[in-house]
Amino acid sequence: MIEIKNLKKIWEDDGTSVLEDINLTIEDGDIYALVGRSGAGKSTLLRCINGLTSYQGGSLTVDGCEIKDLKDKELREFRRHVGMIFQHFSLLERETVYQNIALPMQCWKYSKADTDKKVKELLELVGLSDKMNAKPRNLSGGQKQRVAIARALTMEPKILLCDEATSALDPKTTNSILELLLEINKKIGITIVIVTHQMEVVRKACNKACILEQGRIADEGTVRDIFIKQPLSLRRLLGEEEIRLPAQGHNIQIAHMVNDIHDGELFGKMSKELDYVFPILDGKIQEYQGDHMGIFVINVDDAHLETVTRYLDERRMNWRKMSVKEHGQKGGEK
Ligand SMILES: Nc1ncnc2c1ncn2[C@@H]1O[C@H](COP(=O)(O)OP(=O)(O)OP(=O)(O)O)[C@@H](O)[C@H]1O
Ligand SMILES: [Mg+2]
Repeated sequence: MIEIKNLKKIWEDDGTSVLEDINLTIEDGDIYALVGRSGAGKSTLLRCINGLTSYQGGSLTVDGCEIKDLKDKELREFRRHVGMIFQHFSLLERETVYQNIALPMQCWKYSKADTDKKVKELLELVGLSDKMNAKPRNLSGGQKQRVAIARALTMEPKILLCDEATSALDPKTTNSILELLLEINKKIGITIVIVTHQMEVVRKACNKACILEQGRIADEGTVRDIFIKQPLSLRRLLGEEEIRLPAQGHNIQIAHMVNDIHDGELFGKMSKELDYVFPILDGKIQEYQGDHMGIFVINVDDAHLETVTRYLDERRMNWRKMSVKEHGQKGGEK
């Protein structure tokens, strides 16, 4: 378990604060997303977790062990059990796929036989057994990331840290890498922390997420809750397309899980039961790890606002009133 309490980090050279008041818990087996805009402090927080950078206040423990208290040797030993992958793969171009994956075990002086067994096992896991002797330059981006994942798993880490690991990949390859990470999480029960600015990645792969804004946590919780509640921080990140909201009446956004085809009849039913016809201004259904989430915007008049919102509350539907100006604006209502 990774427990972070009141963590504070200041860049020592210029005294600027980069992380402030960070509180979060990552349970064993979680696939946890750290999201936020460029410069929000995601990579810095990730580097605090594996001790690559230190912090000045608060506490960060991994299985009860305070990272900033570790001495050099202890830190090296700790890092051995934390795998890390990056956007640009960091492979040795002159070495083969096999040698790249074998590298950490060779550094830690494992026997040739043990190394060979492990490398072949991992090549199979990441689906690259036939590319064992290829050089990185002859691989696609997705294949290179698979090599990097295999290399990160050689020391049987309990935690895998991914910093924008899919940002350089096309959507289809991104999906295949996410599927691989999900498979690894299920098979080996490894905890995965994913730093990303791609909300698709969060939706498809992660069970919990934290949204960082300028070094502070804006929202944190299960991905399902965050997407259903649609907090301002999420809306800012999604950079929703502007929809022209009418100035008259009330624009209401409704987010709900669509578990079977009949859930899609919500508005027809609501209209019939309330004997009130209203326009649907926007609607989309997104996949969320096998489930589907519907996000709609309807417009209701003054006279029906109360009956409509009561109807939604009684069915525990998540709704919020949108302000006409909110799209494309920073700040505004919560
Ligand atoms: N070594 C450093 N010294 C001083 N400031 C730094 C240093 N490294 C990063 N920063 C600053 O700290 C802030 C957070 O950087 P960080 O790399 O954690 O952001 P990020 O959320 O990962 O962004 P991106 O999505 O662009 O990778 C930025 O304002 C950055 O300029
Ligand atoms: Mg970063």
